[in-house]
Amino acid sequence: MQDKFKREVTYLRVSVTERCNMRCFYCTPGEGDLPYHEGLPLEDLLRVVRVGTRVGIRKVRLTGGEPLVRRDIVPLVAGINEIAGIDDIAMTTNGCLFTQYAAALKKAGLKRVNISLDTLRRGRFKEITRVDKWNDVWKGIEAALSYGFNPVKLNMVVMKGINDDEIIDFAALTKLYPLHVRFIEMMPIGAGSKRADELLVTAAEIYTRLENVYGNLKPKGNVGGNGPARYWQIPGGKGTVGMISPLSGSFCPSCNRIRLTASGGLRPCLCNGEEFDLKPLLRKSSTGDQAIADLIAEAITQKPEGRGEGSFPTVTDKLMSQIGG
Ligand code: 5AD
Ligand code: SF4
Repeated sequence: MQDKFKREVTYLRVSVTERCNMRCFYCTPGEGDLPYHEGLPLEDLLRVVRVGTRVGIRKVRLTGGEPLVRRDIVPLVAGINEIAGIDDIAMTTNGCLFTQYAAALKKAGLKRVNISLDTLRRGRFKEITRVDKWNDVWKGIEAALSYGFNPVKLNMVVMKGINDDEIIDFAALTKLYPLHVRFIEMMPIGAGSKRADELLVTAAEIYTRLENVYGNLKPKGNVGGNGPARYWQIPGGKGTVGMISPLSGSFCPSCNRIRLTASGGLRPCLCNGEEFDLKPLLRKSSTGDQAIADLIAEAITQKPEGRGEGSFPTVTDKLMSQIGG
């Protein structure tokens, strides 16, 4: 269905847990365990997606935290795959458990996957994520390719002075593998909000650096997805390089998504704290599907126009791992 601004909302991003087995400094506040929401029970998640199809949801992405720390992640994917009306299931993962799950997820109906990786250097990986799991993530990426997930996208949050010297190395990966590397501008959300200004490298800057090495890049249309990325190919590339520019770009006019947080809130906009709480409805055994459909419809209708030109609000009420990226 359409929101107030005539945008067709077809895409639901579901944070299935706030838990994560990494601690990226820009995402979570620090070492040690955070209080977290385990995520809604499997039956509730399936119900929300099934009822969501009544109001036009067609595509689902599972996010976290880290979705693969949920023990029932495979049945969840299989269950969503069986829902008539859902024609696309994707996942965003940090990849370190992907090797173990690749075969089962493929069989359950997962088609494509985005893996987050900010550096190709093991020591640096440890500084950014506070865990020593670079090898596991890399094996996960290889597993995603060898099990035929398509597309496999790598998400790199580019940060000045931290990993921006690896932009060309990441782009060069697309010559060796059919990977779609996406450079993401750092957003002032959650733990990263304090340093986002200082760390920001704009998409234009990233593009210039690629152009300096590879010359004019060949624009590529859509690379199997629903999002705001733009893609190019470097000479000899098997995959593509893409740019996601939440700060310097303006994709609110074509935004097609709402989010379900791990605590059961429907969030119409990443940059706006407003939430519609589904949890009380899901808890009450007498709640009919129509009441759930009505609240999803309400969240879609109330989607704000956007974040306004030239500004990106600082979001501090929630961490990225709680909203689900
Ligand atoms: N800005 C941009 N991207 C972020 N991510 C997490 N926090 C931020 C932020 N503040 C990314 C992760 C992952 C995806 C889920 O969101 O690195 O790729
Ligand atoms: Fe975990 Fe992703 Fe947050 Fe890193 S960015 S701590 S991998 S949820």
